[in-house]
Amino acid sequence: MKEELAAIVLEVESTAPGIARRADFEAFKATISGPNGKLTAVMKGMKNVPKEDKPAMGQLINQAKQQVEAYYAETLERIEATELAAKLGPAIDPTLPSPDIGPGSLHPLTQTRRRMEEAFRKVGFTVAEGPEVETEWFCFDALNTPEDHPARDAQDTLFMPADAAIENVSKRGDERYILRSHTSTVQIRTMLKEKPPLRIISPGRVFRRDTTDATHSANFHQMEGLYVDKNVTIVDLKAILDYFVAEIFGKGSEVRLRPSFFPFTEPSFELDMKTPNLGKLSNQWIELGGCGMVDPNVFKSVGYDPQEWSGYAFGMGIERIAMIVHGIDDIRYFYQNDLRFLQQFA
Ligand code: PHE
Repeated sequence: MKEELAAIVLEVESTAPGIARRADFEAFKATISGPNGKLTAVMKGMKNVPKEDKPAMGQLINQAKQQVEAYYAETLERIEATELAAKLGPAIDPTLPSPDIGPGSLHPLTQTRRRMEEAFRKVGFTVAEGPEVETEWFCFDALNTPEDHPARDAQDTLFMPADAAIENVSKRGDERYILRSHTSTVQIRTMLKEKPPLRIISPGRVFRRDTTDATHSANFHQMEGLYVDKNVTIVDLKAILDYFVAEIFGKGSEVRLRPSFFPFTEPSFELDMKTPNLGKLSNQWIELGGCGMVDPNVFKSVGYDPQEWSGYAFGMGIERIAMIVHGIDDIRYFYQNDLRFLQQFA
């Protein structure tokens, strides 16, 4: 029996390393450990072993079983590794950089915002910020927007629940919290904090109850500009806008101011731009935003003397400018984070 066991172990030891396929391995294993296998036969023979030899024999059989199983495990591991390598194709070097994923880059809206900021910074504007959750007073009342103005309508403006308590956003009285519908709120917060003269831009996210389509989003970005000094005139406003469009859209770009109305500016204008440098969009008037001379009532609400101070303000959509510059025809691309879109701006 002892010799038989040794012969079985030897057979497994010498045969196993030459087995390459799982089916061959299973077939070989059956000849040793299957119901009619050699090792199984030896184990069955235990019942004929005299009682006093049983413990010693049992031990030998266990030993042989352990050795045989170790060879099985080794063989199976080798076969599985080969199978996996066949599935994966050529060997992989996990230390190599991935071929498909390039380095990250700035979102096109961030790139556009920075370009706009850079243009204004060159002529002395600084960036001012304010909260995205605002109150009706900062968004409307202080900006000379009457109680019954349609922009205040729940159709246009997103109101916070009446009992919302937002501790880090200061209120004027007991007015309601809203999500700001324009960044003109930052004019008010800045003027309340600082003395004139002032020259700021305020880029940021704004919210409106708009239904999303190719040119509308309930959540988009604006850049507001505010200049306050003595004797500021429409000529100054026109000059800064001329400068800005030349910086963004290149030489030969022009600005047109069309009479309009905003509660916080008087007079007010729609701001249009025309440039020879835009391919298909060249040489046609394109609307960029609104602007005007700061209404004296706005100065009064922040405690500036309208007899002494004058100023201009303008507001533009950042998405709008990015779409014009890059020829993008659907605003929704900016928010979908599809790499095929984003990679074009890397
Ligand atoms: N706040 C206006 C808007 O969101 C834009 C604007 C800003 C107009 C400043 C005039 C002056 O539509």
